[in-house]
Amino acid sequence: MAMSGASSHSLLLKNPNLNLFNNYITTTTHLNAFPLNRPNKPISVTCSTASQIRDRPSAASQSQDRVFNFAAGPATLPEIVLKKAESEVYNWRGSGMSVMEMSHRGKEFLSIIQKAESDLRTLLQIPSDYAVLFLQGGATTQFAAIPLNLCTPDDPVDFIVTGSWGDKAFKEATKYCKPSVIWSGKSDKYTKIPSFDDLQQNPHAKYLHICANETIHGVEFKNYPIPNNKESLLIADMSSNFCSKPVDVSKFGLIYAGAQKNVGPSGVTIVIIRKDLIGNAQEITPVMLDYKIHAENNSLYNTPPCYGIYMCGLVFEDLLAQGGLVEVEKKNMKKAQILYDTIDQSNGFYRCPVEKSVRSLMNVPFTLEKSELEAEFIKEAAKEKMVQLKGHRSVGGMRASIYNAMPLAGVEKLVAFMKEFQARHG
Ligand SMILES: Cc1ncc(COP(=O)(O)O)c(C=O)c1O
Repeated sequence: MAMSGASSHSLLLKNPNLNLFNNYITTTTHLNAFPLNRPNKPISVTCSTASQIRDRPSAASQSQDRVFNFAAGPATLPEIVLKKAESEVYNWRGSGMSVMEMSHRGKEFLSIIQKAESDLRTLLQIPSDYAVLFLQGGATTQFAAIPLNLCTPDDPVDFIVTGSWGDKAFKEATKYCKPSVIWSGKSDKYTKIPSFDDLQQNPHAKYLHICANETIHGVEFKNYPIPNNKESLLIADMSSNFCSKPVDVSKFGLIYAGAQKNVGPSGVTIVIIRKDLIGNAQEITPVMLDYKIHAENNSLYNTPPCYGIYMCGLVFEDLLAQGGLVEVEKKNMKKAQILYDTIDQSNGFYRCPVEKSVRSLMNVPFTLEKSELEAEFIKEAAKEKMVQLKGHRSVGGMRASIYNAMPLAGVEKLVAFMKEFQARHG
């Protein structure tokens, strides 16, 4: 049900914790997305009608005590979500307690997890024959859970390895099935995605595993390979580009993602799996890794990461309020473009090693021609309140992670700094 714009706005104005809403909210869309003190009521979420790409709060309205955090994960969260959580942390919607204090089996938390699932289903248009699981253990646990649930120890599976995370997933799978790397970008320092036509897939492979976006190397699949036999499944680690753009879930047997980059805090792992694949786990599978147990219990077999799921739910509401993933992708493309343009137009002062057609919209690695200036770059940027720009320890250089929650203003500030730094040192 929709709240009237006038009454909800006056509520917001009366709440000193929600100043940001006053700065940010320009349409009733956002008011409806976060109704105050209305537990368990259906929430009307209408899509943004603005076709123009709108940014989050401008740099001017960004809270003065916050930095632009370019970390790869845990990563920046939308200010509007943090403020909403802040306003509810002590007493969630009149329940008299914090979400952190609730029974995971009580009606309040059930409404939270159900709403989170239903909003995620809307965002990604998840078909009804897919289950959504909210799990723990990080994406790393899924490296084992997937072969344990989908394979016998002798089943072959194929891996396309486009970076360190795909490599880790492959190595873990060797304990539970018979995986092969059918393509690796290692010799090119993980800067490429293969042409799908050239892949030599095993005709008996149970599944084909990809990492949709390699967080460390900044390489992203722009479209997806199709397993070459009808029975085989496409499986994707989407940890670092989850909900950053629309995805046709029906093309995948399973999608998994740690929440802590695009959709929430660490501690929640989301698995989206075609229901008919559930129920064949190897006997040695620990109960906590068995998808059947979690699916039958609606992710409540044991105590789930309740607060993390609540936070993911707030992020999903916010993504819907922004107009859904089509709009979110437009913003992400714009942010990435201005950053890559700055790198490419710097006459080699900055370089991005990744092949242009597969550059990530989420993680932008770059180096300085004069590598001795990199430490200074990172230090000076931090002084300007732009932090966590150091590249992963395995590759060095710099990396700007510009997930959904990074405002355009943050990227604009970074490119202005990059140009100014080049002018001084170029
Ligand atoms: C693409 C990708 N996969 C898997 C992982 C591991 O995730 P977790 O730390 O949640 O186990 C990460 C972490 O950064 C990642 O970026």
